[in-house]
Amino acid sequence: MGRSVTIPVCPLWIRGFVTAPITPIFLTAEKGISMNSVAVGTAVVELRNINKSFGAVQALRGVDLVLRHNEVLGLVGDNAAGKSTLMKVLSGAYIPEEGDIFIEGKKTHFASPMDARRQGIEMVYQDFALANNLDVAANVFLGREAVRTQLGPIAVMDNRRMEVEAQKLLNRLKIDISSVRLKVERLSGGQRQAVAIARATAFDAKVIIMDEPTAALSVAAIGKVLDLVRELKALGSSIIIISHRLEDIYRVSDRMIVLRHGLKVSDTPVEGDIHEFRERVVAYIVGARDDFGGRAAADKRQEA
Ligand SMILES: Nc1ncnc2c1ncn2[C@@H]1O[C@H](COP(=O)(O)OP(=O)(O)O)[C@@H](O)[C@H]1O
Ligand SMILES: [Mg+2]
Repeated sequence: MGRSVTIPVCPLWIRGFVTAPITPIFLTAEKGISMNSVAVGTAVVELRNINKSFGAVQALRGVDLVLRHNEVLGLVGDNAAGKSTLMKVLSGAYIPEEGDIFIEGKKTHFASPMDARRQGIEMVYQDFALANNLDVAANVFLGREAVRTQLGPIAVMDNRRMEVEAQKLLNRLKIDISSVRLKVERLSGGQRQAVAIARATAFDAKVIIMDEPTAALSVAAIGKVLDLVRELKALGSSIIIISHRLEDIYRVSDRMIVLRHGLKVSDTPVEGDIHEFRERVVAYIVGARDDFGGRAAADKRQEA
């Protein structure tokens, strides 16, 4: 993707007189979202036999998951089924007791969210994790600000460049926000969600994970977030979306996984009529239907 030639000198924002050690800054914003050159259908992420406990609570029991290139994968299940935990394992926030993580076929290990992020795994958290008192551009670049000059502990931010890049990103994703200089506290819930998603996509992410991106949004705002998911897919991203709103999953996902009590109990393409889809999914969520041939079935046989 081409870079503009000059970076205008901007009002300087000097940071660091009082702040703690400057975070390492890697400026790769110009890459933005790239079309994946890898063939559709190959796995971008694979989780195998993931086990994770919190004290006596076994949050994940031998869960396998494959996300293919340019696929939207829905992840559903009742409260406490283990959805967020599984995605925190994939994004480096939790380290599983057992199980392997493969990124594009290569076995890997994440010791922190920074590790996962470096390998192109970005998570949009349920609470957005935005800084409300900063503007949209600053939020897009939070923690990886564009620096013009670094003199020891003093980093001089390239605000103009961050604004230009943030605006380009919003345009590319067709996000409707009048100015990137607006403070996040002045945005609607839907716009905040859009900024959180834009931020996750700004640095050439391979995989974007969204935990309940439509919870607590108005119907109109939900429609826009789902449009954004479609837009990201059209641009080549691979996405995992957690939602308790089954129609959201139905509208944007190619495939869907159901978790129940930390077990994967279904893994199927999203297809057919919405009513039939809902009925089938609910049956897996509540356990009325249990015909998945994996660990769940083995456990059931053991219990019998
Ligand atoms: N940090 C934690 N400490 C203790 N228990 C946790 C923690 N995170 C999740 N759990 C427990 O793990 C189980 C799965 O939780 P979670 O992954 O948040 O489910 P979901 O996102 O599907 O609602 C729940 O029983 C939850 O209470
Ligand atoms: Mg959750």
